[in-house]
Amino acid sequence: MENSPVTLEAEGHICLIETVREDLPARLAALTKPRRGLILLDHAFRHEAELFARNFPDFKVIFARHRGEEAKTIEETQAIFEALAEGKYSRDDWFIVRGGGSLTDMGAFCAGLYKRGMNLILVPTTLLGAVDAAVGGKTAINFYGAKNQIGHFYLPAHVLVDLPSFRTLPAERLSEGLVEAYKTGLLFDAELARLAEEETDSLLAGDQRLLAEVAGRSYAAKAALVAGDFREEKGVRDVLNLGHTYGHVAESFYAPELSHGRAVAIGLAVAAELSRPALGAAKADRIIETAARLGGPWPELPPDEDARRLLMTDKKIRGGRLRFILLDDFEKPVLKEIEADEILDAARRVIRN
Ligand SMILES: NC(=O)c1ccc[n+]([C@@H]2O[C@H](COP(=O)([O-])OP(=O)(O)OC[C@H]3O[C@@H](n4cnc5c(N)ncnc54)[C@H](O)[C@@H]3O)[C@@H](O)[C@H]2O)c1
Ligand SMILES: [Zn+2]
Repeated sequence: MENSPVTLEAEGHICLIETVREDLPARLAALTKPRRGLILLDHAFRHEAELFARNFPDFKVIFARHRGEEAKTIEETQAIFEALAEGKYSRDDWFIVRGGGSLTDMGAFCAGLYKRGMNLILVPTTLLGAVDAAVGGKTAINFYGAKNQIGHFYLPAHVLVDLPSFRTLPAERLSEGLVEAYKTGLLFDAELARLAEEETDSLLAGDQRLLAEVAGRSYAAKAALVAGDFREEKGVRDVLNLGHTYGHVAESFYAPELSHGRAVAIGLAVAAELSRPALGAAKADRIIETAARLGGPWPELPPDEDARRLLMTDKKIRGGRLRFILLDDFEKPVLKEIEADEILDAARRVIRN
């Protein structure tokens, strides 16, 4: 499938999302001329500083001072604001952020605040960034020991998924992105779910054609959903929490050893187990088995007491009752109220298997 650009329109702003298969500098130059701007590169691309400096004489190239999650700090934003102010950039100039989800979260946070919002291009270099973090307009930094404490909504003008950069992603990072893509497929696109189920090995080996298809299908589905509830006010985005309720329990209990993606894989399996009566055994088993291949091997079950306490911190709690996203079928998510004990029983059944 050739990916055509996807349009995400919200609050009068348009964001175009596309996959770049080769020559990223040429595509960026075509979009940004004749303006100047600032390019923020992930540490993973330090070696490309000269290439970018040569291709973009009217841009300044800088790096985040830290890698990954460590880049989502208020100190890091200060350095970005200083670079923007020092360059005397206007809101019509460009800020290009090329990196993983942490860098695009932090960079978009700055772009939306500088001059009350400047032209922004996000270039996700991880599969997770392409299918999730860079799509949807949520920006954030971490603060006071908690993730994503300060943030706002801001749409980039363009998202360019940097397909060749996926070549340097280790398999476990690809699998984290694939877990989120699989979740998106289960919710909205059964063909995407099928790709994650049947082409797992080729995808994890970095097959560019398949990765392009998975990324394209994922960002198209997420963009369509986000457009209907940009500021998360109507509950439309709630379904994206599929796999994240129990996933959050596992992630918090095993932090920092268990990655978000692996935790969500456990959460997807638990959601499939709870959905078994509606889904039927064959589909429930297929999801559990795929989740185990993407996120396994799984750690031991957290003790009930801890799991119950962590479940009660879920953001979808209403009046002490847990609201859980289940599947009536592929592409048919439903929000149901569930007792904590039912969730713990399902987790026991899944993790024992
Ligand atoms: N805004 C949203 O809606 C949203 C959604 C999901 C996740 N997120 C955020 O995304 C972040 C996680 O992002 P991530 O998983 O992309 O990882 P990351 O950005 O934290 O990067 C992880 C590591 O991979 C490196 N890296 C990046 N691209 C690479 C490449 N092509 N090859 C080799 N190494 C590379 C980075 O330098 C870093 O060391 C979290 O902070 C999470 O909160 C945001
Ligand atoms: Zn997630």
